[in-house]
Amino acid sequence: MRVPQIDLTREYALIEDRVKEAVIKVMKSGRYILGPHVKELEEKIASYTGVKFAKGVASGSDALLLSLMAINLKENEGVITTPFTFFATASAAFRLGGIPIFVDIDEKTYNISPVAIENILENGKIEEDGTVINHKGKEIKVRAIIPVHLFGQSAEMDKIMDIARRYNLRVIEDAAQSIGAEYNGKKVCSFGDLGIYSFFPTKNLGTYGDGGMVVTDNEHLDHMVKILRVHGAEKRYHHTYVGINSRLDEIHAAILLVKFNFLDEFARKRAENASRYMKLFEEKGLLEFVKLPETHEKVTKHVWNQFVIRAEKRDELKDFLKEKGIGTNVYYPVGLHMQKCFESLGYREGELPVTESLCKKVLALPMHPFLTSLEQDYVVEKIKEFYHGI
Ligand SMILES: Cc1ncc(COP(=O)(O)O)c(C=O)c1O
Repeated sequence: MRVPQIDLTREYALIEDRVKEAVIKVMKSGRYILGPHVKELEEKIASYTGVKFAKGVASGSDALLLSLMAINLKENEGVITTPFTFFATASAAFRLGGIPIFVDIDEKTYNISPVAIENILENGKIEEDGTVINHKGKEIKVRAIIPVHLFGQSAEMDKIMDIARRYNLRVIEDAAQSIGAEYNGKKVCSFGDLGIYSFFPTKNLGTYGDGGMVVTDNEHLDHMVKILRVHGAEKRYHHTYVGINSRLDEIHAAILLVKFNFLDEFARKRAENASRYMKLFEEKGLLEFVKLPETHEKVTKHVWNQFVIRAEKRDELKDFLKEKGIGTNVYYPVGLHMQKCFESLGYREGELPVTESLCKKVLALPMHPFLTSLEQDYVVEKIKEFYHGI
């Protein structure tokens, strides 16, 4: 049997006719960028999130960049974030001349630790638009926190928002992996000043290419994103700011409108698969070798973009599963604080121990809405074979 980590072809087979019809309609329309489909998608996603505004952009990475540009992050200003995430979360600040400040994560949820955020801020000098801290021998004005809702699970947004209010920081929620997830009954991206989604193909709402969105309740920030995505032009050829070119294509918006209808149903299927994995691991007596993903008690909806276990002898297990036709991935093998391109930030091995230890143990198993129970049985059976023998 072959079980890929993700299989997008099965989903396409289900929606093929609708997607073809939607794409052809756009091609015939003569409007290809920031047209009526983008507007409709923006309205749908804003309302789904529970905020007033949304703007379609070219990718989740650009959505982060534009959010930081919208709050006017300046050179040498700090942004607190997690090192256990995709690169784009931290590179956005770095590209603007800002300083990503990495703090450690919670071992159980893999999300940024509110205690670690507070620790870094607590002796700082609070100012109107941030808090000045002494970090690695430098005075840095921290302007924002970017919590990431990793693998489909919300970060601890009540605590993070409380810290942000006390230290006058902006919050940009990175929900690239977690559209539709809820914390305390409220959707992610409705807590912070801004929130971002990615429509990369493997995300819970993914297109057949790149795309992203910025959502907010703040009219000024929405306006900033709206003009910054078109080179900072308030009016065509009249540039108030130096922005970038980062627009969502009509074709992608049309595809996403088709897929939006399945978003909650697919999240439910992912959750069913997650429960089934948990049951199988328990039944097969694997819990001494494998730690299962844990859900925070205030997370009212987990959307399971990934099912990530912590495994003994992770690399050997990964190779063994590959031989048996089972696809897995390591998200993430190296913390962002240890990436070569961030050497200048001055982090050393051992500084963020929870992240570093998880990087050696995590393994993402096959997970998508179309995973069958037979496939799951096979995956867990092979994991049992690895640890217990046949
Ligand atoms: C947590 C996180 N942030 C940001 C991004 C960037 O999104 P995109 O790939 O659409 O640029 C991703 C996607 O891979 C992600 O997983």
